Amino acid sequence: MNSHEGKMLIDVFTIFPAIFDSPLREGLLGKAIEGGILEVRVHDIREHGTGRHRQVDDAPFGGGAGMVMKPEPVFESVTACLGYGIEDLERLREEVEVVMLTPRGERLTQARVAELAALPRMALICGRYEGVDERVMEHLCTSAISIGDYVLSGGEMAALVLIDAVARLVPGVVGNRESLEEESFSGGMLEYPQYTRPAEYLGWRVPEVLLSGDHGAVERWRRQAALAYTRRVRPDLLRGSGDETERED
Ligand code: ADE
Repeated sequence: MNSHEGKMLIDVFTIFPAIFDSPLREGLLGKAIEGGILEVRVHDIREHGTGRHRQVDDAPFGGGAGMVMKPEPVFESVTACLGYGIEDLERLREEVEVVMLTPRGERLTQARVAELAALPRMALICGRYEGVDERVMEHLCTSAISIGDYVLSGGEMAALVLIDAVARLVPGVVGNRESLEEESFSGGMLEYPQYTRPAEYLGWRVPEVLLSGDHGAVERWRRQAALAYTRRVRPDLLRGSGDETERED
């Protein structure tokens, strides 16, 4: 699943670095960072803003509403922080996956997450305002990713979603590898329903088969439940996945 040994390095470029503070401190991500399996460096693009006011945005050529992120602060921030010269963009793009988070990107899937998790490092650029000068996309980024068909106020939340999804696949971050293998999407289906104690709550009993101790029966029930649930909630996942022939018997 992962071709590099151990650690993954992620450089994030944003004009709102504080957004990343608590999500990177808490839970699984916090632990991975503390344990040295994951390193996330958050860089403030404004440090490379132009002029006395460290300007990072400007009006769009051709007119229209809103502001566009200027190219210079982004190019300079990324090259300086990653240790490349501005004339060395070709080598930078060969050596580092530079991802723009934007609703104009390819839609993120678990397969793409797994591809990214196999890389030793990547850089994430968080767009803001109404857009980013297209030269950043053309000459600095190697890909553009959207986390879904809706519009956020900026790429920061999307970058956090991507970091979380990728980090879970880096060896050592999720303790139990089995829980990765069983979960939703890796098998092209949504996960089966889970229950825990008490066996009865407010009169609602958990399915008896789960209490039976019959591992074969439990396995069959789970497969069937996952299939039935997926068929109801996300039939698109089953179409063309090779599972159409699977029967609920
Ligand atoms: N920035 C704004 N909306 C976004 C989205 N849906 N995905 C990624 N980045 C975004």
